Amino acid sequence: LKNFVSVEELTNLEIMSLILRASEFKNGVQPDRDLTEGIYASNLFFENSTRTHKSFEMAEHKLGMKVISFDTSTSSVSKGETLYDTVLTLSAIGVDVVVIRHSAEAYYKELIESPGITASIVNGGDGAGQHPSQCLLDLLTIYEEFHTFSGVKVAICGDLSHSRVAKTNMQMLQRLGATIYFTGPEEWYDSTFDQYGTHKEIDDIIGEVDVMMLLRVQTERHGGKAMRYTKAEYLDQFGLTVAREARMKETAIIMHPAPVNRDVELADSLVECRRSRIVTQMKNGVFARMAILEAIANGRTTNV
Ligand code: CP
Repeated sequence: LKNFVSVEELTNLEIMSLILRASEFKNGVQPDRDLTEGIYASNLFFENSTRTHKSFEMAEHKLGMKVISFDTSTSSVSKGETLYDTVLTLSAIGVDVVVIRHSAEAYYKELIESPGITASIVNGGDGAGQHPSQCLLDLLTIYEEFHTFSGVKVAICGDLSHSRVAKTNMQMLQRLGATIYFTGPEEWYDSTFDQYGTHKEIDDIIGEVDVMMLLRVQTERHGGKAMRYTKAEYLDQFGLTVAREARMKETAIIMHPAPVNRDVELADSLVECRRSRIVTQMKNGVFARMAILEAIANGRTTNV
């Protein structure tokens, strides 16, 4: 890979090979250090992050890459330097891979199209656009459980229209053969999602699905508009309560990209329950990101 900015640009075969490689790393296979040791990586997070930022950093260290620290608040971004000029600079001083999270949707387009920028770009989330590395770790988590995507019934629940995780996952899961349902408030549903699945009431699908993929209520993307529901009302009408969890299939799992709003998207006691794969998703994030970064390192070596 030259860049990793959107899962749409990857074939099913490329996605499966990244999942299998991530799985190998999880099972203790060591990376080929000759490939990754000479690579310099820098992580530019213009939006807050714990999981994505720190698991990319962990993945870089585990691969033996050299990590060049970058703090948006103390860099020349604070003097008004643009994203383009920032990445051009890092590229010029020898950074090979730049991982970026930015509020602008598709911010990466001008970077990957510029002949002046030689660094590879990895998308750590672009506004309400895509979150491709989260998609990969979510796919790994589902694949570990069911060993296929074909026929797996996934409910994507909650604040759909503001979620880059939802948009990325619905596209990929459908492509890989999963059946998708949507639940949650109608005001957070967009008719463009109809092509990927069917909107249902949570109580109508809770006993049928294999995966309950809950989404954080992203108040920071609601443009200052107050939520119509109290936290308790949201949990009761749209969330995963203990009573609903009891109706899930024996083999069904709970996922959430996190951070979790406890007692909003799901009951506090379910966050670490036997069905929950939320902590597994966090762990899988490191292995999925190792696979992505290794594929980038491989692409850079073979393209020289
Ligand atoms: N899931 C996720 O993207 O979490 P962070 O915002 O903490 O990176």
